[in-house]
Amino acid sequence: MPFPHERPRRLRSRHEIRKMVREIELTPGRLILPLFVTEGKSGPVRSMPGVRQHTVTEVVKEAREVFRLGIPAVILFGIPKKKDERASGAYAKDGIVQRAVRAIKSKVPRLMVITDVCLCEYMSHGHCGIVEKNKINNDKSLKLLAQTALSHAIAGADMVAPSDMMDGRVAAIRQKLDQAGFSETPILSYAVKQASSFYGPFREAAGSAPKFGDRKTYQMDSANSREAIREAELDVKEGADIIMVKPALPSLDLIRAVRAAVKLPVAAYQVSGEYAMIKAASAKGWLDEKAIMMESLVAIRRAGADLIITYFAKEAAKLL
Ligand code: PBG
Repeated sequence: MPFPHERPRRLRSRHEIRKMVREIELTPGRLILPLFVTEGKSGPVRSMPGVRQHTVTEVVKEAREVFRLGIPAVILFGIPKKKDERASGAYAKDGIVQRAVRAIKSKVPRLMVITDVCLCEYMSHGHCGIVEKNKINNDKSLKLLAQTALSHAIAGADMVAPSDMMDGRVAAIRQKLDQAGFSETPILSYAVKQASSFYGPFREAAGSAPKFGDRKTYQMDSANSREAIREAELDVKEGADIIMVKPALPSLDLIRAVRAAVKLPVAAYQVSGEYAMIKAASAKGWLDEKAIMMESLVAIRRAGADLIITYFAKEAAKLL
């Protein structure tokens, strides 16, 4: 009979002992903060309280604070003034992300700057690839994505993170970077990115909602877990260095499955909608914001994520 010999509560009797036997550590070193940088005027994001669109000057200030808090990295998203059908702002030498990278790296050199590599923010139609006759041209899009990643590396990005979900983009980016002498720049691949409605607030922040249709022909169906492993394995073969699963809390099972399937570090993205839900319920007094934030981050780590991209990074780091 386990009881009365076995008493799990013995190890829960006080804070000190609970801390000693805790299985998962959450530290600022595991967090990555997403930052929006705009070519236009800065300001708050309506559906993401506490999140702002920054100018280049402001984003440097933010980067300094992030580094001071012990958060090792940020991931940058650009909001250009002009959009077109070739996403030229995405790979322009003086594009908004390229300028922000140069500014941050010159002022806070030890902060890791990761760049999101995608075309949706720069395309007039808001899709993540080239559109021809209302259809995505996958292979032509690869060229622009690789060019975008290279322009980020040239600007000084420490890591590039393709989020477009085109087939073959990791290989295309790896080849382009290697040819240009950036063989040591890692690729953090959004490998398991689902066509999720949890990205709603982000699209408001980045002005990147598709003007027609949806992203279901390139982002994954959230019902599929075998396909999630397939996507992760393909990106490993194409040369990814870190595999990401997204959104996070709705896919703890996928984080766990990818963790078991690949040997690379696994990242999870606690996306805009997950952040907005917690913020909204807390604002109403229905949830304890700090406690829920920590509980969700611990759950994502417990599922198997080594790294978490989260809009809560600063708030969590302050508590840790
Ligand atoms: C760009 C991109 C998106 C997110 C990260 N990169 C939006 C989308 O795919 O529509 C979402 C991040 C978030 O919701 O916080 N393709």
